[in-house]
Amino acid sequence: MHIQTRVGIIGAGPAGLLLSLLLSMEGIDSIVLETRSRAEIEATIRAGVLEHGTVELLTEMGLDERMKREGAVHRGIELRFDGYGHRIDLYKLTHGRSVVLYPQHEVIKDCVAARLKQGGPILFNVKNVQLANISSTQPSIHYTHENEQQEIQCDFIAGCDGFHGIARSAIPIEQQKIFTRTYPFGWLGILMQAPQSSQELIYAYSERGFALVSTRTPELQRMYIQCDPHDAIGNWSDAMITEELQARLVTKDSWKLLVGPIIQKNIVAMRSFVVEPMQYGRVFLAGDAAHIVPPTGAKGMNLAIADIRHLSHALTHFYQQHQTDLLEAYSATCLRRVWRAEHFSWWLTSMLHRFPDDDAFQQRMQRAQLDYTVSSPASATSLAENYVGLPFAW
Ligand code: FAD
Ligand code: PHB
Repeated sequence: MHIQTRVGIIGAGPAGLLLSLLLSMEGIDSIVLETRSRAEIEATIRAGVLEHGTVELLTEMGLDERMKREGAVHRGIELRFDGYGHRIDLYKLTHGRSVVLYPQHEVIKDCVAARLKQGGPILFNVKNVQLANISSTQPSIHYTHENEQQEIQCDFIAGCDGFHGIARSAIPIEQQKIFTRTYPFGWLGILMQAPQSSQELIYAYSERGFALVSTRTPELQRMYIQCDPHDAIGNWSDAMITEELQARLVTKDSWKLLVGPIIQKNIVAMRSFVVEPMQYGRVFLAGDAAHIVPPTGAKGMNLAIADIRHLSHALTHFYQQHQTDLLEAYSATCLRRVWRAEHFSWWLTSMLHRFPDDDAFQQRMQRAQLDYTVSSPASATSLAENYVGLPFAW
């Protein structure tokens, strides 16, 4: 079967779904292809923090109803080390900006519902996705859906299929410049049925490694501890995880971690990765397909959404003004923000984690940086403005 559309979108993550919605607001048709089922994408636990600009965009798009009701506005975060907490007042330091805690899979649910309400199309459970003729003006996507071999002919392909997708590999390897860093640790993430121990997120540096206290709902908490990236989750009993969290978060006052049953746990590796350029022929990469950051700065999904904002503008400009200048500038425009977020995520990761080859000097460097970050308004402002997200023009 042959199908025609303007933009073929690979991947129904935040990037792919938001692109299809933004294009449809401008009357540009698209088709989203997704290898997983709707139930799976709506249940995968990932990000939690939405930047100020992401919240504004979702609001402009009319996707804010549940986010406003169920999400929580956070105006500060805590950096904890040597047994004391230090509040970074995001709101004050950025003149009224803040972040919203609203899980990525809830954003996905809102986007899928909005897109299907418009008539879609989103094709779930597709297999064997392949791109063809990507340097021509009529590229195509070949795939299997419901046991049938199908083909989409389009003007443009948006590669929104995440780090392990196929879109990036369609670009000739000699055209790709890859920048990467693998960290010698991962994060063990859990969901715990317990009340909130803190109104705001806690990023803790300790002798035993990093710990993060985040939240999902008043009854369900999301927490992470730095761990060996090659460790098997089966090696960590619930009691060991709880004990490790308590040890890394201990304070010199009466603060207590409120605990309960752990209902989900997994380990993720940490890496920084960028491919340049983010475009080849008629294929435009967006989100994790083009870049990865360690989760410490909570930037990944927000960066994916910033790419999409630029890509939807460039495509709209092409169809409405018949101009290719924004499409040609797409990669360079996105990469400026991408590298800012890469630096911020690497910086925060380096300051807060224990590295296996750290010596006493290195640990003193980390402490000095933490002390400066929480005591100097200039340094705290830099953290705050990166955390809530730079303006979209960046
Ligand atoms: P994805 O969400 O990866 O979506 C890609 C989609 O493409 C997937 O649904 C996949 O099934 C599909 N796909 C793959 N291959 C194919 C194919 N061949 N054909 C069709 N479809 C395909 N970011 C934040 O902003 N804030 C946070 O607080 C935050 N916390 C995080 C915590 C953790 C533990 C982790 C792991 C990540 C976190 N992130 C965070 C990062 C964030 O989750 C990602 O950056 C985000 O999901 C990227 O969105 P995307 O749409 O580019 O890619
Ligand atoms: C999360 O809630 O999952 C989360 C919060 C902050 C981060 C990373 C992840 O930096």
